[in-house]
Amino acid sequence: MSAVKIADNIYWVGAVDFDSREFHGYEIPYGTTYNAYLIVDEKITLIDTVKEKFSNTLIQNISEIVDPARIDYVLANHVEPDHSGGLDSILDIAKAAQLITCSNGEKGLRAYYHQDWNFKIVKSGDILNTGRYNLEFIQTPMVHWPDNMMVYLEDTQMLFSNDAFGQHYASKERFDFEVDEKITLERAKDYYANIVLPFDAPVKKIFADLEGKDISMILPSHGLILKNTLTKILGKYKDWSDNITNENEAVIVYDSMWGSTKEMAEKIAEDFEKKGIQTKTFYLKEHHVSEIMSHIIEAKYICVGSSTLNRQMLPNVAAFLTYMKGLAPKNRIGLAFGSYGWSGESIKYVNEELEECKFEMMEPIKRQYKN
Ligand code: FEO
Repeated sequence: MSAVKIADNIYWVGAVDFDSREFHGYEIPYGTTYNAYLIVDEKITLIDTVKEKFSNTLIQNISEIVDPARIDYVLANHVEPDHSGGLDSILDIAKAAQLITCSNGEKGLRAYYHQDWNFKIVKSGDILNTGRYNLEFIQTPMVHWPDNMMVYLEDTQMLFSNDAFGQHYASKERFDFEVDEKITLERAKDYYANIVLPFDAPVKKIFADLEGKDISMILPSHGLILKNTLTKILGKYKDWSDNITNENEAVIVYDSMWGSTKEMAEKIAEDFEKKGIQTKTFYLKEHHVSEIMSHIIEAKYICVGSSTLNRQMLPNVAAFLTYMKGLAPKNRIGLAFGSYGWSGESIKYVNEELEECKFEMMEPIKRQYKN
């Protein structure tokens, strides 16, 4: 895909990855993009790069606008290789360019790439003047790694947000107003649930850092550029980072050996529905954990069921609980349930895992065979 003009002197020069389906355990059925942006001013600035295998695409896209050798500044707002993977290629061409990052960025990039690049270290509040534009750095550690930064371009009120406000969504469109609003909102929710959810305090800090700044456009490092959905997505980030849940939503997740735990899941769903609580039930042999997280993000009740196998919970359930525990949803009510033959440890272990999530627990439900 070619470079796309975003505004006068500002271009998208990244890559669209239609084929990827996995992102460190997160299933991404719609692929993703690695967004990089070029600001052409007296000094030429590249904001972030792409996954290594798309380095040639990045260079081709930049070449449609300027000779990449003329780049003066390369901003590395995040060490993770989906954004830093093109650094080696671009800095090999733009030999005089400074590589601008924060101190954690420098540490991470040196540890990953073992290159003695021309680093310049910045911190929150520092300004990079490129001629007519001033770029302000805002460090956003732990959204998603310790090295994350955003860049605010006051002259155009654009926020280059790196991982925050992204979506894993590959398409030929670059702006949210070119697709149905539902797509952007759903992809943003799925992304938050599977990437950003553990980092509620750092997300709240972003809002404090942005206080008083007008934002006309958010340009994340994944997915669509936000303009029309900007206010809605900012509002959603506030709710999600506050772990605001819907009292009328329950998610039921289970695996079942001979169908008994499945019947329990169906009965639990029926009981919730009778109380006016909407349920979504997921059989772990048919649904990926990351799809389920997208529902857990707004549900108050999280019910997890497993048959007992060899005195343990079923492996699918253990995998789900490990994944969910890492993402650390808070302010939930939990329920463990399951069928067993003679020992029944799975229910106890599921209950313990949910307790470790600090959920308020309901009394576990056990059933021997089909009693
Ligand atoms: Fe898109 Fe944390 O990398």
